[in-house]
Amino acid sequence: MTQWVKLCGTHQAPKPGEVIEAEANGVAICLANVNGHFSALDNLCPHRGGPLGGGWLEDDNVVCPWHSWAFNTATGIARPPEKSKVTVFSVKIEGDDLLVQLP
Ligand code: FES
Repeated sequence: MTQWVKLCGTHQAPKPGEVIEAEANGVAICLANVNGHFSALDNLCPHRGGPLGGGWLEDDNVVCPWHSWAFNTATGIARPPEKSKVTVFSVKIEGDDLLVQLP
């Protein structure tokens, strides 16, 4: 069963073009703002465990700060030639809170 959990207040959310690290129920999340649309991905890079939320955006990809693997913020799929994927969580805003849907 999934649950909606507060990730941060909307005032703490990243501005367009920014990426941050946040945590919900002990799950580390990479929260990106792609042109005003929020995207929440697993913060742990599947390459060697880099913090995706410490990276940056290139178009609609978040780039890992350690070795520059890039992951699509909508699908979580790595940019070729890498063959990998991170989990993408649904996001919604309720009042002043930004929530993510966790499994
Ligand atoms: S740990 Fe993320 S690209 Fe290597």
